[in-house]
Amino acid sequence: MEQELNRLQQEAEEDLGQINEIAQLEAFRVKYLGRKGGALTSIMRQLGTVDPHDRPRLGQLANDVKQEVESWFEEKKEQLTATQIRHTDSTTDFSLPGRYLPYGKLHPVTQVMEEICSIFEGLGFAVAEGPDVETDYYNFEALNIPKHHPARDMHDTFYVTDSILLRTHTSPMQARIMEQQDPPLRYIAPGKVYRCDSDITHTPMFHQVEGFLVDRDVSFADLKGVLTSFTHKMFERELALRFRPSFFPFTEPSAEVDIACVICNGSGCRVCKRTGWLEILGSGLIDPEVLKMVGYDPDIYSGFAFGLGVERIAMLKYGIDDIRLYYENDLRFLSQF
Ligand code: FA5
Repeated sequence: MEQELNRLQQEAEEDLGQINEIAQLEAFRVKYLGRKGGALTSIMRQLGTVDPHDRPRLGQLANDVKQEVESWFEEKKEQLTATQIRHTDSTTDFSLPGRYLPYGKLHPVTQVMEEICSIFEGLGFAVAEGPDVETDYYNFEALNIPKHHPARDMHDTFYVTDSILLRTHTSPMQARIMEQQDPPLRYIAPGKVYRCDSDITHTPMFHQVEGFLVDRDVSFADLKGVLTSFTHKMFERELALRFRPSFFPFTEPSAEVDIACVICNGSGCRVCKRTGWLEILGSGLIDPEVLKMVGYDPDIYSGFAFGLGVERIAMLKYGIDDIRLYYENDLRFLSQF
């Protein structure tokens, strides 16, 4: 048996040396290594008939020969496969990694907008959207800003005609929703707004999320509670908030809300104009005049409203010190988010 094994090993080596195509390999495998009738498999089956004294030694030898032939076989297979690939197409290198297909993702401002909306949805607010091209009535008059009111100057408006304009804020949605529904109401209205304005914290098109709540006995404390809870969730920490008295014709009292500048940690930088604070929203209790215009009785109902700047929040969240970067469409910038 020992001689037979050595002979088979030598023969297999010679046979393999003759093979130069993958198609011939299968015949070789069947001849020597096949489970049924392969020469090495058959010889191993005869081990049971040899003298028990020689069996361990011969068993070991048979295993060694089989493993050797198997490894020659695998080596040859790899070698022939590589040769075949080279011959199939000499200009293609199959070992190179595949071509990278970049896939798109949401714009950082959209991501932040979605996050803002989901936080308010979690606080029980429903979402409503309205038109970017708005009438003068909803953008101004229904919000207690009649024609020739000086507050119109705060809004650097893009007019389409005398009575049609690109909305300068999302507040028209307060009037649109309130005139359609009765209290209690709890809405947010996200969307694009437009103003003739551009510097490191202003762009001509930006996004706001309007929020308002109307019910009986709504107070400024409710507004503070909702906005504080929102800010802590948005920035995942207890940032300082500052309610600064302000003026909006459609709220009374009114406040602008600043948060401690996250870029300089309140020590003063070019984004917060060295103040340590950055304004993120305007807010207040809905003016009784606005409630009256939509047919609500201000003696029964009260409400709060706020309008926050999405890009400002995105700047603070990601530490971006120039708002215009969001709209330059430089993929190296956008793909970081
Ligand atoms: C308003 O637009 C009011 N409608 C907000 C409001 C709603 C007050 C409801 C009361 C009740 P203001 O003009 O301050 O307010 O804008 C709100 C926020 O939008 C600002 O705090 C700021 O974060 C952002 N913002 C304003 N102008 C720009 C701009 N040009 N580019 C980017 N963000 C801006």
